[in-house]
Amino acid sequence: MGRLFDWVDRRFSLSTPHKNFLQRGIPARLSYLYCLGGIAFTLVILLVLTGMMLSIYYVPSEAEAFQSVLRITREVRLGALIRGLHKWSANLLILFILLHTLRVFLHKAYRPPRELNWIAGAFTLVLTLSSGFTGYLLPWNQKAYWATVVSTNMVSTVPLIGRHLLYLVRGGPEIDGTTLVRFYSLHVLWLPLAMGLVLWAHFHMVKRQGISGGL
Ligand code: HEM
Repeated sequence: MGRLFDWVDRRFSLSTPHKNFLQRGIPARLSYLYCLGGIAFTLVILLVLTGMMLSIYYVPSEAEAFQSVLRITREVRLGALIRGLHKWSANLLILFILLHTLRVFLHKAYRPPRELNWIAGAFTLVLTLSSGFTGYLLPWNQKAYWATVVSTNMVSTVPLIGRHLLYLVRGGPEIDGTTLVRFYSLHVLWLPLAMGLVLWAHFHMVKRQGISGGL
C-alpha cells in the first residue's frame, strides 16, 4: 500500500499541499479553545452528508412525509443511525457555535479588523437556527405540527405586517402541505446554500487575517 501511495504521490504530489493553501497565521500560544470553530464545521459537514442520505428516502408531501420518516427509522438499513446522527449533529452544532462565539467574545476577537467576520459569524448562527426551525417540521408528526403552529403564530404578532408575514411563512392561513414543501425547500436548498456562501466568507477572512492572538 505504502509503495503504491509513493508511486501515485511522486506523480500527483498529494502529500505536499498547494502553495499557501494550508498556510495561515496562528496565535503564538495555542489552546484547544481554537478548535471550537473547527468542531462546528465538522458538524456542518456531517449534517450535509447525513441530510443527503435522508433525502433519498424522505418524501416532502402532506400524505407521505410521516410514513417516510417511519420507514427511514424502522426499515431502511442504518436509517435510524443516520437520522440520529443528523439530529445529534444539529443539536451539537448549536452548542458548539455558542461555545465558539463565547471564545471569540472573551478573546475580544470581534475588534477590527475582524468585525465583519463577527457579523458573518452572526449570520451563520441565524442560518443554523433557521435550519433547526425548518427541519423540526419535517417529521410531520403531532409534536412537529403543533410546535410549528405555536412558533409561526409568534410571527403574526409583528405590528402591521404580522398577518402578511404569517401567510408568507406558512404559505397560507394554516399549516398544511404547502408549509411542508416551503420548509423542506428552505431546509435542504436555500439555507444550506446561504450557509455555504457565508462560511466561505468566514473562512476566507480567517485565512487572510489569521486567528487573533487572544487576550
Ligand atoms: C457554523 C458556524 C461557524 C463555524 C463553522 C465557524 C468556524 C470558524 C473557524 C474554524 C474559525 C477559526 C478559529 C477558531 O476556530 O476559533 C473561526 C473564527 C472566527 N469566528 Fe467562527 N464559525 C462559526 C460561527 C461563528 C459565530 C456565530 C461567530 C460570532 C458571532 C463567529 C465569529 C468568528 C470570528 C470573529 C473569528 C475570528 C477569530 C479570531 O481571529 O480569533 N463564528 N470560525
